[in-house]
Amino acid sequence: MRMYDVISKKRNGEPLTEEEIRYMIKGYVKGDIPDYQMSAMLMAIYFKGMSDVETAILTDAVAHSGDMVDLSPIQGVKVDKHSTGGVGDKTTLVVAPIVAACGVKVAKMSGRGLGHTGGTVDKMESIPGMRTVLTEEEFFHVVNTTGLSVIGQSGNLAPADKKLYALRDVTATVDSIPLIAASIMSKKLAAGNDCILLDVKTGSGAFMKTLEDSITLAEKMVAIGEHAGKRTMALITNMDIPLGSLIGNSLEVIEAVETLHGRGPEDLRTVCLSLAAGMLYLAGKGSMDECRALAEGAIADGSALARLIAMVEAQGGESSVIRDTSLFARAAFEREVKAIENGYITHMNTEQCGIASSLLGAGRVTKESVIDYTAGIALKKKVGQKVEEGETIAVLYASKEELFSASEEELLKAVTISSQKPKAEPLLYASVTKEGVKRLTE
Ligand code: URA
Repeated sequence: MRMYDVISKKRNGEPLTEEEIRYMIKGYVKGDIPDYQMSAMLMAIYFKGMSDVETAILTDAVAHSGDMVDLSPIQGVKVDKHSTGGVGDKTTLVVAPIVAACGVKVAKMSGRGLGHTGGTVDKMESIPGMRTVLTEEEFFHVVNTTGLSVIGQSGNLAPADKKLYALRDVTATVDSIPLIAASIMSKKLAAGNDCILLDVKTGSGAFMKTLEDSITLAEKMVAIGEHAGKRTMALITNMDIPLGSLIGNSLEVIEAVETLHGRGPEDLRTVCLSLAAGMLYLAGKGSMDECRALAEGAIADGSALARLIAMVEAQGGESSVIRDTSLFARAAFEREVKAIENGYITHMNTEQCGIASSLLGAGRVTKESVIDYTAGIALKKKVGQKVEEGETIAVLYASKEELFSASEEELLKAVTISSQKPKAEPLLYASVTKEGVKRLTE
């Protein structure tokens, strides 16, 4: 077989066979197929697409390019969660302890920030002493004793995806539905959980900007998960506005803890309860309504917060900062961003809000950047709220004063103010299971 022929077949819009897909993934990981040929293939897939069968085979080939984790040493049903990425998305830190408190194990491998989006591993590392790299035995032990563990992705999990993702990032081929579906689901299949809850974000801060594209992506990922024998559900959630009010690593841990105390912002609480209910539903804990009530109970009785504290301690973290979040280190400088006119905030470009936070040091500008865990943004006003000229809409936090001006400029560009009060947007748009799409809005 020659890669040249496989590329020209896809370029002409013909479906690839299983043999061809496995040949190209194996050859690419081994280094027999060079980046320039794989780049041409990715662009051909970008324009010609892939059938569901091709996407499922690609996912399986990428998953099997490295270790397939065996979670059988962990007792009981294990449920995974994946977010397609967003700004202010600290849901894992809220949802995983809730689900564990309700008796379902969460053995989760999370990622770092990517582009304008934040990553759970970076947020966890803002807790002093917190280890996100554990041996397999330690990982199993933490889950078996505390009910949950969140760690970074092991080095040999879907190595083909690592290589392909880096190439897609520089060849303008990230936002292809079959390539995103295969990338995410290969890692989920390799991670070895029994059930998978997907949080597919939609809107200006998401990779999928339209609801219809988000639903199509969700349908493909659910089909792949179910085909592999995993109970899989996707919730389509709003990422047209940052989730919650705090953006940045330790700031987001603080907001997650507030939410576990029952004091978090309403949008974050609503999305977290839905995600937790979805995970408990997949694990067979009852109907979605029953599972939501279980999740609410775990916040109300403090058991979810106790699980977070137990996990932090088991992974070497200083739980004193979780018990009293005022002990987190604070940024040396802060600056208020003021509204430049009167009116209602009608839109917040969420990608630009993420960039504004990165510019303060909360994200990576290059692969080598060192994250400032104390940096970030506290939004004082959000979409739908009235503001007056000169009123504070956000507070920026950074360790160097010179970082403020670029970030402030980006944030002001992100915010649209006009005279008309905007219509409230839903937080949850749809759920997608193997039975089909259920729209949650009219
Ligand atoms: N997240 C992933 O892991 N892969 C993608 O392709 C997009 C988002």
